[in-house]
Amino acid sequence: MHQKSKGTFYITTPIYYVNDVPHIGHAYTTIAADILARFKRLEGYQVFFLTGTDEHGQKVEKAAQERGVDPKSHCDEMVIRFQSLWKRLNISNNDFIRTTEPRHKRVVQKILQDLYDRGEIYQDNYEGWYCVPCERFWTEKDLVNGKCPDCYREVSELSEKNYFFRMSRYQSWLIEHIEKNERSILPPSRRNEILGFLKNPLEDLCISRPKKRLKWGIELPFDTEYVTYVWFDALINYVSGIGYGDDGETFSRFWSEAIHLIGKDILTTHTVYWPTMLKGIGLPPPKTVFAHGWWTIEGKKMSKSLQNVVEPNRLIDTYGVDAVRYFLVREVPFGMDGDFSHAAMVHRINSDLANDLGNLFSRTLHMVLRYFDGIIPAPASCEEIDGRLQKVSDHVLSQLPSFMNDFAFHRALSTIWELIGAANKYVDETAPWSLAKEGNTSRLSTVLYQTMEALRMIALFLAPFMPSTSERMWKELGLESNLWEQNLERDGIWGGLRPGRRIEKPHPLFPRIESRKITGV
Ligand code: ME8
Ligand code: MG
Repeated sequence: MHQKSKGTFYITTPIYYVNDVPHIGHAYTTIAADILARFKRLEGYQVFFLTGTDEHGQKVEKAAQERGVDPKSHCDEMVIRFQSLWKRLNISNNDFIRTTEPRHKRVVQKILQDLYDRGEIYQDNYEGWYCVPCERFWTEKDLVNGKCPDCYREVSELSEKNYFFRMSRYQSWLIEHIEKNERSILPPSRRNEILGFLKNPLEDLCISRPKKRLKWGIELPFDTEYVTYVWFDALINYVSGIGYGDDGETFSRFWSEAIHLIGKDILTTHTVYWPTMLKGIGLPPPKTVFAHGWWTIEGKKMSKSLQNVVEPNRLIDTYGVDAVRYFLVREVPFGMDGDFSHAAMVHRINSDLANDLGNLFSRTLHMVLRYFDGIIPAPASCEEIDGRLQKVSDHVLSQLPSFMNDFAFHRALSTIWELIGAANKYVDETAPWSLAKEGNTSRLSTVLYQTMEALRMIALFLAPFMPSTSERMWKELGLESNLWEQNLERDGIWGGLRPGRRIEKPHPLFPRIESRKITGV
């Protein structure tokens, strides 16, 4: 049956700096975006999911210098680290944008020229303070104890000619836009934070860097002595990545639905700079910017100097890709800060994944193998208790879309776990092993059919979160259809499992982990 599309959905991650290798923080945002993209596809939306890398600017130039390579070769090497990690994490992005690509540079220069021609950009002398690591200008009053208000590091005094974007003229428009649109910035606490920030006068945005200070950037089309400020360049990826100025079709279908997932560290650039830049070029702001919280590691800030940076590849080696995906979005409500610890990870795997989900799957399939030679039985007798799982499953299905719209991944998962819990309880209470002993085939058929159908629903609901586990469950349940062609509304209806199909011998989904063996990861 051909399903009509429900509409379009556009989801992005930040484009990550290639000054460093990807870590668990980058993986977090990208996994969350992937979960939403996969969920929306199962709902029947046409999805565009964009991620990529931010390759210009001082940080990247410096990282390349330190390694003694030219910046472009450095980027070409580093980008592979990101791309191969996303492959391992089963990230289903539709495109990957690099800011050094001609398709991106063209759009940045076009936008700059356009703004310049219309008097939105002017030249002026800049005198103030500059934070090198943040690549940001600060005025005297911005400084906190003479240091950068963002990273608290030393700032240097600076006086130079630069180009400025007339951001200040959009202040009242921006305030009104944010006030009118509750979902423009989420969670609400972040929206309040930005509305508070906008109570102070907004200044114009310096969008250039003189080449004598920084070479690694996109040249200004109207002054070859300058390159573009890295943030002005980077934010434009969200429109260049869907063909703004080139392929009008993709752009016009997806831009109006744009959702940017970011960490709280880059809230101002996304909710102040970016919407005013868009306003300057006559485009509507993104629909939503969602800023999630910050991960610490075993109670400490993640940093190179502490040598506690959590390397996602090693986590995947130790725990498996789906356990990592699951943990990150289950452990902490999206939007809040969280602490990563191996103990918490092991605990989640053993209790939720090995015990609740893994055991249900394995014991059910083994009973179908033992009592019915691996053929899914048809439900026969029906007692009140047999309707229970359908009720819970319908309830889960009715709740999932709104939890997902609210970015409440942990709630989505905990409602799916209600179905897992109900199925385990149903098996315990109906005790199929006793029914088998009694020779009560009619009850036994019903009980195992209901439980198998619950497992089909669980695999479907979990697919966005744990794609490879769900694929395995799907296959071992004997389902021949393509999991990714399922539609939640159509295939989430109870009773879709066809009796008479042959199942496969299940492999353990999540072996229990001995926490003893994990130390020193
Ligand atoms: O800021 N906890 O790139 P970046 C949670 N290139 N999330 C974390 C994290 C942590 N400890 N550490 C990093 C940049 N992140 C710019 C973005 S977008 C137009 C340009 C995640 O490599 C989080 O998503 O510093 C954060 O916003 C992002 O990585 C910063 O990545
Ligand atoms: Mg950063």
